[in-house]
Amino acid sequence: MNVEKVTEFFMKIADERAGASAVLLTYLGDKLGIWSAMAGAGPVDSAELAARTGLAERYLREWLAGQAVAGHVTYDAATGRFELPAEHAAVLADESSLAFQGGGLEGAAAQWMAADKIADAFRTGAGVAWHDHDPRMFSATARFFGPLYRSSVVDQWLPALDGVVDRLRDGAHVLDVGCGHGTSTILMAQAFPQCQFLGVDYHEESVLAAREAAAKAGVDDRVEFVVAEADAYPAGEWDLICFFDALHDMGDPVGAAAGARASLAPGGAVMLIEPFAADRLEDSIGSPVALAYYTASTMVCVPNSLAQHGTALGAQAGPEQLTEVLKAAGFGTVRRALETEYNLVLEARA
Ligand SMILES: C[S@@+](CC[C@H](N)C(=O)[O-])C[C@H]1O[C@@H](n2cnc3c(N)ncnc32)[C@H](O)[C@@H]1O
Repeated sequence: MNVEKVTEFFMKIADERAGASAVLLTYLGDKLGIWSAMAGAGPVDSAELAARTGLAERYLREWLAGQAVAGHVTYDAATGRFELPAEHAAVLADESSLAFQGGGLEGAAAQWMAADKIADAFRTGAGVAWHDHDPRMFSATARFFGPLYRSSVVDQWLPALDGVVDRLRDGAHVLDVGCGHGTSTILMAQAFPQCQFLGVDYHEESVLAAREAAAKAGVDDRVEFVVAEADAYPAGEWDLICFFDALHDMGDPVGAAAGARASLAPGGAVMLIEPFAADRLEDSIGSPVALAYYTASTMVCVPNSLAQHGTALGAQAGPEQLTEVLKAAGFGTVRRALETEYNLVLEARA
């Protein structure tokens, strides 16, 4: 045994534990609204923050010290005050910011809540369905993807498809399968008011949340959300069918893709958005993005697919396997339209 290597690996795990501890405290700031209370407030001490938030001063004092140690807030030893810099507020307090990470923090909490269930599933091989997760999983997913979708769907992903933006500008029928809280559907509806949109998801609570979000965004005149399995949505001829981070979660991705193919209007396209993944595991070693996706895949995506007696494609299937799924579904053309640090965009045509 090489003692130096033991020490080195000990330090690596210790660093990861420290990171996980920081995530826990940082998530509490999100859940309790402390980050919002600190944003733009200038330097505050624990008593002032308690007055602002209505939270217990002793807890806040300990939490603030931890956040100062983590470097999330600055600490002025002379005044005993803590400040959330504007740049950090953009990441922790501002839901509209493209840098916002509150959804990821909430998602980490939701994944920890599932640890015992997933451990049992490791023993039995059974699945754990999406709807059996802590409710934080659903809101976290919408909040996590929101900033990414706001920066990518309309400006990057749709334009990467062949002629799709022109078709949307002319007025088209768009289907969003596995739409969750409808973030992607609503963004497209805001950008293309001349189109009609349908979002489907098997999870009723998500569909209700999506309807509420559409009404709030003022797009409910052109967006409908219904509860439906991925291969059993209302029949129609769709110019564009989208799967946003959902196909790999499904029990039967080939069936879902084949259903989409059968429902396309002539010349229509399927846009498949999946997490970025390399085709070979050896090309992902050491990637923090792949690590986050493998964690979500183990805790959420594989268990949900198994709960649907599925193939459990996983969130790191990679472009080759995803192309095989689409080809097996009968698509004649499958094209890798775009690759970003976080996503793969595939375009499939009948
Ligand atoms: C990771 S979430 C993504 C949600 C949404 N597309 C987004 O990007 O925010 C996966 C979604 O797929 C849905 N889903 C899983 N299996 C499904 C199935 N067989 N039919 C329809 N929806 C399904 C889940 O309910 C969940 O909303």
